[in-house]
Amino acid sequence: MAKIVNSWNDFDPLKHVIVGRADNSVIPNEEPATSEKVPVDSEMRGMWGPRPLETVEKANAQLDNLAKVLEDHGVKVDRPTPLQWNQPVITPDFRTDSMMTCMPPRDVLLTIGSEIIAAPMSFRCRYWEYLAYWPLLSKYFDEDPEFLWSQAPRPRLTDKSYKHNYYDEKVSLEERLERTANKDFVTTEEEIMFDAADVLRLGKDLFVQHGLTTNRKAMEWMKRKYPDLRVHAVNFPGDPYPIHIDATFVPLRPGLIINNPHRRLPEEQRKIFEANDWEIVDAAMPAHETPPPLCYSSVWLSMNCLVLDHKNVIVEASEHNQLEQMDKLGMNPIPVPFRDAYAFGGALHCATADVYREGGCEDYFP
Ligand code: ARG
Repeated sequence: MAKIVNSWNDFDPLKHVIVGRADNSVIPNEEPATSEKVPVDSEMRGMWGPRPLETVEKANAQLDNLAKVLEDHGVKVDRPTPLQWNQPVITPDFRTDSMMTCMPPRDVLLTIGSEIIAAPMSFRCRYWEYLAYWPLLSKYFDEDPEFLWSQAPRPRLTDKSYKHNYYDEKVSLEERLERTANKDFVTTEEEIMFDAADVLRLGKDLFVQHGLTTNRKAMEWMKRKYPDLRVHAVNFPGDPYPIHIDATFVPLRPGLIINNPHRRLPEEQRKIFEANDWEIVDAAMPAHETPPPLCYSSVWLSMNCLVLDHKNVIVEASEHNQLEQMDKLGMNPIPVPFRDAYAFGGALHCATADVYREGGCEDYFP
């Protein structure tokens, strides 16, 4: 029996990781709060059904290539077991007509030390997504006597979990930004809801984005669950669709974080970093003006890189500004093509979930 699961941050040497799969991916039908989460100008509005096979194949080719690059760098790679995502989700509380995909794993699995928690996600269509990872977690459980296999309290996702009439196509960008600044989100405080990708792990400190997919009750739950860690709420007023922290605030090594220049961390919340000599640098501008077709995310997936250790970092191959910036920051960027996978929920950091990184629980903000 060996230690299989261990990870406290996003930058210590990566040794074992899960890489998602695009098989059977579906664009889910509308459900409460989906309209609120898809940008108004997206061509995906009103669309749903299985994703075109050709796009699934292209995404899988790039995911397979990412797995290979990781293996070439000495990282062990595991893959999930996709379900037939076109099936409905039916619980005593709701029914929705389809699921989505097992991409990206970062949204579902939160690794903290020797524990992996399946997140209580706020999308009804993502209710069973964790099952794609159960065969892997079951294996880790059998092989690693210290592995803690957990699940956060499962939300019921009744209508009470969402604000109704929150969304209106006529709501201007200014109004959306005002809502973000006022922390007025479409999800309510009825029950604990979070996506793992809203949690930035820095050893003893968890920085959690309050936004469309994660609420305050989730942070309260994390505080009680981890009495030895410090949980900080962060929010980025420049983001009209605050979903997941990893295209907004991305640590590269101890003491260095890149921050989306359109979504700067407010002064008040910067203090803890400044007081501990961390540098927060504006991320380079994206190389593309628009995201690829049928994509939920913004062009800022450019900064969604996967750090292999304090020096090496995987960056999307066409993001020349980001590649150049990494160089300037003293990192060694490894370009990997990945834009064909973006539509399936995100870029290189999103598409992976940590199993093992060297290192322990450091206190970076004593
Ligand atoms: N909301 C982010 C953006 O569009 C994308 C975040 C994707 N991250 C993820 N873990 N799925 O800029």
